[in-house]
Amino acid sequence: MENYAVFRMPSTINYGRNSFETLGKEAAERGKKALIVSDKIMEKLGYISEGRDYLTQAGIESAVYLGIESEPTDTYVQEALELFENEKCDVVISIGGGSCIDTAKAIAILATNGDYIGDYMGGNKIADKKPVPHIAVPTTAGTGSEATDVTIITNTSNDVKMMIKQPAFMPDAAIVDPLLTLSSPQHVTAATGVDALSHAVEAYISKRSHPMTDSMALSAMKLIVENIKAAYQNGENLEARECMALGSLQAGIAFSNSSVCLVHGMSRPIGALFHVPHGYSNAMLLPAVLEFSREYAVKRLADLGRIFSPESENLSDEEAADLAVNSVKKLCLDLNIPNLSGWGIDKEQFETAINKMASDALASGSPANNPRVPSQSEIEELYNVCYEYNFSAESNVG
Ligand SMILES: NC(=O)c1ccc[n+]([C@@H]2O[C@H](COP(=O)([O-])OP(=O)(O)OC[C@H]3O[C@@H](n4cnc5c(N)ncnc54)[C@H](O)[C@@H]3O)[C@@H](O)[C@H]2O)c1
Ligand SMILES: [Fe+2]
Repeated sequence: MENYAVFRMPSTINYGRNSFETLGKEAAERGKKALIVSDKIMEKLGYISEGRDYLTQAGIESAVYLGIESEPTDTYVQEALELFENEKCDVVISIGGGSCIDTAKAIAILATNGDYIGDYMGGNKIADKKPVPHIAVPTTAGTGSEATDVTIITNTSNDVKMMIKQPAFMPDAAIVDPLLTLSSPQHVTAATGVDALSHAVEAYISKRSHPMTDSMALSAMKLIVENIKAAYQNGENLEARECMALGSLQAGIAFSNSSVCLVHGMSRPIGALFHVPHGYSNAMLLPAVLEFSREYAVKRLADLGRIFSPESENLSDEEAADLAVNSVKKLCLDLNIPNLSGWGIDKEQFETAINKMASDALASGSPANNPRVPSQSEIEELYNVCYEYNFSAESNVG
């Protein structure tokens, strides 16, 4: 085991209200023609024309790929890469949620290193040539992908959500403007907000946490816990949106340098097979996985409990850890998160998939970072528990 830690972030982070205006300047420092990777909703909201205006003012030409209609697949990556090459672009800009950012990360790597994106999984192929500069502009407060060296792309030939992590995937610059998140609909705010919370909590309880990630994770947990309900209840609450955007960014930095754990390991197969949006599938798993992990992470969960209820600072660690788990359950109720059955997943299909999902979860490597490392059969049991999880019950996990 190494006794030193590494900490990586984008080389530039512009954040705060109106930081989107810096897009032209950042692009001009990195290239001459940009491919904007985004979706039709962003275009409708006017974010693409606004971004192109900033680019034009800075003398940067642009082409636009708007083909992303779901969480990213290898097909979108291929289409967008062809456009990047045909248009002779030299910088890539993502404007959107994690789906747009992750697609752009893959383009930035493939444009200089070649081959199929899946080849980079598990470090089988290392991106050793400098990627095309990527400027990430998130419009959700959730994935933190603007500041992570991870991309998650579905392999359409086997329905596996490939988690691919290498330093070269880190965007060169991130522009985090909370004004762009004001339009996020309520269900997206809930799902992405719990995703950000899961990043912060998993980074904090991970076996790979270290002091630099702890500071980011603790700050992120506080910002998110204190603001997630306000942003959900009133999407126009700019202060809450601002705190969520910052919390999500910090949570991304935290988990990219620490790790995610069992929640994300189990969440990706649900997303790939049943097309549950990433934030929702995390939320459906988070309370059960915390119950499962509790005894192995009492002190760290106690810190989370005290963030939820600062007035309970006199509680013992054991009591505060219970408070953390119960507060997360209550949060899921407040954000109207259903369990897997309530989402409408067919029981028989789910049961048939459990064995593959548990194997895929283990193969991703994330469960090995969990404070309590599960076996294949324990993961299978957790999937069963989560299918009918009762967010109001005291305990669901034996
Ligand atoms: N690379 C990473 O570090 C990382 C981390 C976590 C999750 N992810 C991945 O990110 C993807 C999910 O990203 P996401 O949760 O941001 O959702 P998303 O990008 O899939 O977006 C969800 C929906 O919300 C819409 N939307 C986004 N911002 C909006 C806004 N401001 N106003 C109105 N509509 C808006 C999008 O158009 C889309 O329809 C998943 O594939 C997940 O696996 C990646
Ligand atoms: Fe996530």
